[in-house]
Amino acid sequence: MTIQELEKLYLERQSVREFSPAPLARETVEEICRAALLAPSAMNAQPWRLIAVCGEKKKEIAKAVQRLGVNRFVSDAAAIVVVAEGKSGGLMKVGEIFKENEFVRNDLGILTAYLVLAAQAAGVGSCIIGWRDEDKLRGLLGLKEKVRIPLVVALGYPAEGYPVREKKRKPIEDVFTYLE
Ligand SMILES: Cc1cc2nc3c(=O)[nH]c(=O)nc-3n(C[C@H](O)[C@H](O)[C@H](O)COP(=O)(O)O)c2cc1C
Repeated sequence: MTIQELEKLYLERQSVREFSPAPLARETVEEICRAALLAPSAMNAQPWRLIAVCGEKKKEIAKAVQRLGVNRFVSDAAAIVVVAEGKSGGLMKVGEIFKENEFVRNDLGILTAYLVLAAQAAGVGSCIIGWRDEDKLRGLLGLKEKVRIPLVVALGYPAEGYPVREKKRKPIEDVFTYLE
């Protein structure tokens, strides 16, 4: 893959907030999650767990990320992937002793970025959802109180005619410095 092809994928990936009623095949959801799980993590601890909700429970999960009309579109997602903290492998335990918990949040963010880009590569629309009621989500999924759920991802095919928006990003001069 060339950098130009990769940049095209980055440009095409956008937050989709109107989904088609078409379902997503289980294999497609699994493929996207499998690709995302190749993400790097601090000390390769992989402190994560992805929970793809596609059945009846989806309605309740959607409600847990909605408030005052925010994120209403999530109810139409074909799948909702909950990005939760999972068991950290090996060395990360040392990190936890030193309270390096920031790593976990960073790792889950990176995993989520991998996930939405994998979805785009599979022709599936996505939207990262940061507004969520963690208590409600934990309750619905039977997760322990200490398990953090920093993000949720809505997945589904974009509604027919859903436009590819032009990216609004800060000019590179404002956010990139090249030091010689
Ligand atoms: C951490 C994070 C949390 C977000 N939370 C929400 C959200 O709760 N609802 C929503 O509609 N979009 C949410 N977004 C999507 C952003 O608004 C979106 O990525 C940004 O405006 C750039 O647009 P683009 O994704 O179309 O390129 C979130 C994105 C990130 C990275």
